[in-house]
Amino acid sequence: MRHKLFYLFLTGLLFWGHPLPVAAQQSQQAKTGGYENGLVVSAHPEASRVGLEILRNGGNATDAAVAVQFALAVVYPSAGNLGGGGFLVLRQSGGQTAALDFREKAPGKAHRDLYLDEDGDVISGLSTVGHLAAGVPGTVAGMVAAHEKYGSLSWAVLVEPAIKLAGEGFPLTAAQAAALNNNQDMFKENNPGSAYFIKEEWLAGDTLIQQDLAGTLRRIRDKGAVGFYKGKTARFIVKEMKEGGGIISKSDLKRYRAVWRDPVRGDYRGHQVISMPPPSSGGVALLQMLKMAESYTLPEFHSAAQAHLLAEIERRVFADRATYLGDPDFYQVPTAALLDEAYLRRRMSTFTPERVSPSSEISAGELAAAAAAAAESMETTHFSIVDRQGNAVAVTTTLNGSFGCKVVVDGAGFLLNNEMDDFSAKPGVPNMFGLVGGEANAIESEKRMLSSMTPAILEKDGELFMVVGSPGGSTIITTVFQTILNVIDYGMEIDEAVRVKRFHHQWLPDEILAESGALTGPVIGELRSKGHRVDFTRAIGRCDAIVVKDGKYYGGADPRGDDTAAGF
Ligand code: DON
Repeated sequence: MRHKLFYLFLTGLLFWGHPLPVAAQQSQQAKTGGYENGLVVSAHPEASRVGLEILRNGGNATDAAVAVQFALAVVYPSAGNLGGGGFLVLRQSGGQTAALDFREKAPGKAHRDLYLDEDGDVISGLSTVGHLAAGVPGTVAGMVAAHEKYGSLSWAVLVEPAIKLAGEGFPLTAAQAAALNNNQDMFKENNPGSAYFIKEEWLAGDTLIQQDLAGTLRRIRDKGAVGFYKGKTARFIVKEMKEGGGIISKSDLKRYRAVWRDPVRGDYRGHQVISMPPPSSGGVALLQMLKMAESYTLPEFHSAAQAHLLAEIERRVFADRATYLGDPDFYQVPTAALLDEAYLRRRMSTFTPERVSPSSEISAGELAAAAAAAAESMETTHFSIVDRQGNAVAVTTTLNGSFGCKVVVDGAGFLLNNEMDDFSAKPGVPNMFGLVGGEANAIESEKRMLSSMTPAILEKDGELFMVVGSPGGSTIITTVFQTILNVIDYGMEIDEAVRVKRFHHQWLPDEILAESGALTGPVIGELRSKGHRVDFTRAIGRCDAIVVKDGKYYGGADPRGDDTAAGF
């Protein structure tokens, strides 16, 4: 039962009602044209347009990324955010790479047993809905840090398009109207004052105006990080917390810092892969999967042999994730050991093409007791950008669940995240993505919760080759993994690589989750005969990627959403 809810949940509101042909057209256009001067691929046409304008006006990829992040906070409020966090990976045209961690942190008052009752059981919903679910937001600090180091245009120019979109409004897509309608009860319950998302009924084409958000963005435009972490905006957040029973304090906000980290790097069939280190598990897990896959000639696309091999790789990697990955500032993550080639070969030594390796035998840990997942949808968003000089930026950013913890900061007009659910609330008890964890990802004051976000950049022969990433909780890692294989091993153009169906294994629950239509009946039969349980979902991930070929940029905008490639 539990995993059924989990799948329902993975599919989420995020994916329904999206007009496939529009995005498919965009993607087609990117494929046939190719762009020489710059390309932005994001989850919303307005955000891609804003990024493109910045590039056209001489901004670099980082400038465009900052503008797109702020625009998404307005036009894509279910995931784009000021009240959340994320990760940025960049590669300068000269080859320099960097990784920026603007992940949320546990508030100072958070502690290991924050979500447990007197009996030590997890209190359902406490880490996913309402004020206590929110971590200290990192997005604004992240954008300031990225701009300070790599930006070229003035800060105000980059925030301005978002202010305009918030103040003048923008038309909702059908999917957005549906998502807002579906969250009305949650919005009302968690926003006893008023929140401008509350309305009798939203329709496609309705204009969403967000004056309070415009005000917050103006403070950010004028004062940078201070406009969010101190003064009026901070006072709004702290007041909201006090009234709603949350624990983010004035000093939590003042102390928040984004952190530059060394990207993780590895090789895959002659490509250099650069991605996010902990506190995201994404980069380490992606590199583990690729290195395990490299020893094999990949079987035919979507054959039982391919699904079996990839599922067995993914199972092993997710078992490692549950034990070894956490915030490196609090827990010594054995990154080098996890990426050691001999270790990865040993991990695959139990693989056989004929039979599953049951998850109970892959990890020494006890299987998690099933916990009821909250009935809500999820959302994160990824965007990829390349500029005229060949600088590249990959950003994955999130509130965690769709519309985060559903709390709009009164007076400041933005939603808060429910990222605290990414911690392991109790060893072995799955979070909303069905992920389990233990000591490495236990809640501690000021610690960053483990993530699966996997913004990645690939080089070939020392030149930029690919920019890639996706939302999808635990399925982020497998989505990015499979998209890379689609391009490198299966020779697909990028639009096809992001469009084709995907499947996923995450160790627990012990089964392959496949997009409907990904695998044929006979393939499913063969997988079952090998011992796999196979289940189905509407959609896995929403990958927005760029590939560079013969000096031109080609965009893959995922047709599962309103995603758009905008280039010139
Ligand atoms: O950081 C993480 O791994 C999660 N908070 C991401 C959430 C997500 O991708 C939900 N979207 N579909």
